[in-house]
Amino acid sequence: MNTNDLFADRYSCRKFADTPLEASIIEELLQAARSAPSACNAQPYFFYVLGPEAMNKVESLRSWYQAPVVILGCLDTENYGWQRASDGALFSSFDLGLAMSQLVLKATEFNLGSCYIASFDPDELSKVLDLPEKHVPYIAVALGHASMGPSDNHYLRQSPDKLFKILP
Ligand SMILES: Cc1cc2nc3c(=O)[nH]c(=O)nc-3n(C[C@H](O)[C@H](O)[C@H](O)COP(=O)(O)O)c2cc1C
Repeated sequence: MNTNDLFADRYSCRKFADTPLEASIIEELLQAARSAPSACNAQPYFFYVLGPEAMNKVESLRSWYQAPVVILGCLDTENYGWQRASDGALFSSFDLGLAMSQLVLKATEFNLGSCYIASFDPDELSKVLDLPEKHVPYIAVALGHASMGPSDNHYLRQSPDKLFKILP
């Protein structure tokens, strides 16, 4: 698949079939995340693969579109990543986003559905999943075989003049 096809095929899937994902595919998705660039190569994140047993523990996770697998991306408080000296900007969440994006595009290549999920309570997840304190849940992605197509939102994008400007 070329990148244009990948970008066109990815959409937020909000209903999944009841089919489990093969361990070898999950492994490849994690490798895609692992190969992402990060500022100063800090790799300031950690990923948890949540299967049905873990998801059953968390009330809110059960309603995450019935995904058979959720990958939870955490920031690592023992590795804050690179900070820009001039304005103090931290790049850890940006780095995690890049890694997640690679993972999601790899999932798209495997013809899997995916949906980023940020609307959860990090403290609740941390507690119920008994995560170490240093791993702070930040962004998750629900994954599985899609049983629903894109929502109308998928086709709504800003016009180029609202997004781009070429400075000569
Ligand atoms: C950082 C981030 C967080 C998101 N959180 C959620 C979420 O909590 N629940 C959800 O249903 N979709 C979530 N989405 C999906 C967006 O709503 C979706 O990407 C956007 O509406 C565009 O639609 P598309 O992905 O189908 O192109 C999130 C997307 C991103 C990038």
